[in-house]
Amino acid sequence: MNNDALRGKINELKKRKNAVILAHYYQIGEIQEIADFVGDSLDLSRKSADTDADIIVFAGVHFMAETAKILSPSKKVLIPDPEAGCSLADSCPYNDFKSFREKHPNHVVVSYVNTTAEIKTLTDITCTSTNAKQVIDSIPQHKEIIFAPDRNLGNYLNSITGRNMVLWDGACHVHEKFSLERILELKTQYPNAQVIAHPECQKPIQIAADFIGSTSALLKYTQTDESKEYIVATESGILHQMKKQSPEKHFIPAPPADSTCGCSDCKYMKLHTLQKIYDSLLYEQFEVQLSADIIEKAKIPIVKMLELSK
Ligand code: 13P
Ligand code: SF4
Repeated sequence: MNNDALRGKINELKKRKNAVILAHYYQIGEIQEIADFVGDSLDLSRKSADTDADIIVFAGVHFMAETAKILSPSKKVLIPDPEAGCSLADSCPYNDFKSFREKHPNHVVVSYVNTTAEIKTLTDITCTSTNAKQVIDSIPQHKEIIFAPDRNLGNYLNSITGRNMVLWDGACHVHEKFSLERILELKTQYPNAQVIAHPECQKPIQIAADFIGSTSALLKYTQTDESKEYIVATESGILHQMKKQSPEKHFIPAPPADSTCGCSDCKYMKLHTLQKIYDSLLYEQFEVQLSADIIEKAKIPIVKMLELSK
């Protein structure tokens, strides 16, 4: 089936089954275009809590689809490719994190949503890169904090909040890999370009950046800022929305150290295709399954975050 035929079939199935497609900004352009809603991880968790659809097809990674299931347990939540995991979530295994937490029994645990549902059961409040500062600022100054799992985001948050959070030593395979050398080379080629970076990038990239922000903050910045060119140090899928919102501007993906293609794709996000979205709707696969006990416990820190960032 060609893409036009697939799009027609997907729309037909969505209507017939009262389904919605939620897509993260890191999805390929074709998926962003067929989705009912496109956003960053915070937007998507809000949307999954609000929808009255019977089926949610989640074009994102596993922890995001789990969050949708936790917030809408009576709905069928489908992930088109079950292998769409996350190297950052994988860097924080349950048993190791449980022991780590036990070493700091009086600390408040703040976890980035990029964690498994099991890790959320060990968490006091979750955050995303969009609301992390707000979440941390809401915790009384005298309280000590554990932040997991991203060490780069954690260090960045320590610097902007003045806290000294204990950090879990995890990282994302996309954001860790940007090459400062290649970004500086690009800067000589495009001297007027602004370097914009996600806070999961390593510190040298953050120092070289003109602006640091979550996926949606970066998108907003390119819409409101007056520059015409941007070197974008985050997952390349966001360039689709940046170009769409500001077609007159030029966006250059920041290259990783070990790639000749100049791309910075999340290998998990990019597993989904239009064909897999269609199969997911047709066969109602692959359903996210979580026990009632995990849902009940993991919901508490997510709801706290959503209440705080209303
Ligand atoms: P956002 O919270 O900016 O959507 O980031 C999600 C993510 O997976 C970052 O790598
Ligand atoms: Fe996980 Fe990194 Fe992919 Fe985001 S970009 S989903 S943090 S592996």
